[in-house]
Amino acid sequence: MANEMWGGRFAEGPAAIMQEINASIDFDKRLAMQDIRGSIAHAEMIAAQGIIDPQSAEAIKQGLSQVKTEIESGTFTFKTSLEDIHMNVEARLADIVGPAAGRLHTARSRNDQVATDFRLWMRDTVDAIEAALADLQQALCEKALTHAGTVMPGFTHLQSAQPVTFGHHLMAYVEMLGRDRSRFRDARVRLNECPLGAAALAGTSFPIDRFATAKALGFDRPTANSLDSVSDRDFVIETLSAASILAMHLSRFAEEIVIWTTPQFAFIKLTDKFTTGSSIMPQKRNPDAAELVRAKTGRIFGGLIGILTVMKGLALAYAKDMQEDKEPTFDALDALALCIAATAGMVRDMEPEAKRMKKAAGSGYATATDLADWLVRTLKMPFREAHHVTGRIVALASAKNADLEKLTLAEMQSIEPRITGEIFSVLGVTNSVKSRTSYGGTAPDNVRKQARRWLAQLKREMRPRA
Ligand code: ARG
Repeated sequence: MANEMWGGRFAEGPAAIMQEINASIDFDKRLAMQDIRGSIAHAEMIAAQGIIDPQSAEAIKQGLSQVKTEIESGTFTFKTSLEDIHMNVEARLADIVGPAAGRLHTARSRNDQVATDFRLWMRDTVDAIEAALADLQQALCEKALTHAGTVMPGFTHLQSAQPVTFGHHLMAYVEMLGRDRSRFRDARVRLNECPLGAAALAGTSFPIDRFATAKALGFDRPTANSLDSVSDRDFVIETLSAASILAMHLSRFAEEIVIWTTPQFAFIKLTDKFTTGSSIMPQKRNPDAAELVRAKTGRIFGGLIGILTVMKGLALAYAKDMQEDKEPTFDALDALALCIAATAGMVRDMEPEAKRMKKAAGSGYATATDLADWLVRTLKMPFREAHHVTGRIVALASAKNADLEKLTLAEMQSIEPRITGEIFSVLGVTNSVKSRTSYGGTAPDNVRKQARRWLAQLKREMRPRA
């Protein structure tokens, strides 16, 4: 049987395999609520413009609200033969209200319909991601405030470099997430234009009011070019780009959690809530959530590369290729939402092993830079020379298999006679972090200030906008 919605010129129905490759209902049913919202706005507008009669518009609106109830309550039957969500909704509307339903599709096309639905969905999703990110930032700031003075090794090349504080390390992610959020906000500004009324590709001869539908659907304005309206998916690409950068950030933190929870590092503890055991090795506690956050990055990058590849070289305007925009997007952004929530959960759950971290911070001659700085400050030595002298002191300590602070004054003076006992005040890790007071540095007071500043900002943002 030919398709009941567009089958006028078709004598036969599609081959089964044609139907299978063509249908999108299995995944685009996720746009059902957006589709109905868009249809109601369209029906009201074409009635207000005198394009359809008020009675038909009223019947359509009532019918759409029934379809909505059926979908929400799970009684709606989605049919593959009706291809996609747009035709499933419209066909059911026709069952309910009869011929009036046929007037709904005046002055629009599935091409502008799907672009509108997907933008509406993306807008809600971007808002949800932003809110989830704010929550993650809050979790990080709170933990950072508690541990503003908890000393840990800071790394470069994953080698102990200089002592930092755990709070400072967590606040680094707050900054990254702040930029991630602003990328999503930016993408939202650009996506918030309404394609509805672009129709198939050229606009329509009916006297529609695109500004009215744009306003009714909460868009800032209608899109200005009908070809662009139905043929671009840069709003998907932009969101997935922001999602990919964010996923990259989350994967770095996840990797650190994996490292920190190994018995070899043992910098932090996660409870039973965020770890799993091994079915064979009873001693194990695995950081699976962190590993999966790290791994799901693959789906998110994959989604971005997928949609970029679909869109590349595609001639204007709409092509069915673009139906392939949805599945990877849903998959990527679902994964992202999970990753953000799991990361926030782990942050709230994690407890640093302060003693071990501090001990580790002092090993590996992590205060060698402090020693060199002391030589510069107190003996007015040029930094390069101080670096050299410090290197010799480190070599001496290493030969004795001792930490820097365990060397005697006489031993240090054997390398630089002008060194005084005051040197010991800079060799401890606590003094080292306290001294890093430059703006953005790891001094506990700085960290507290930054955490409080962010917490205040997050609180302000949470207040509903006037
Ligand atoms: N299911 C289609 C999509 O997701 C809707 C648009 C179909 N338009 C068309 N002319 N066949 O892209």
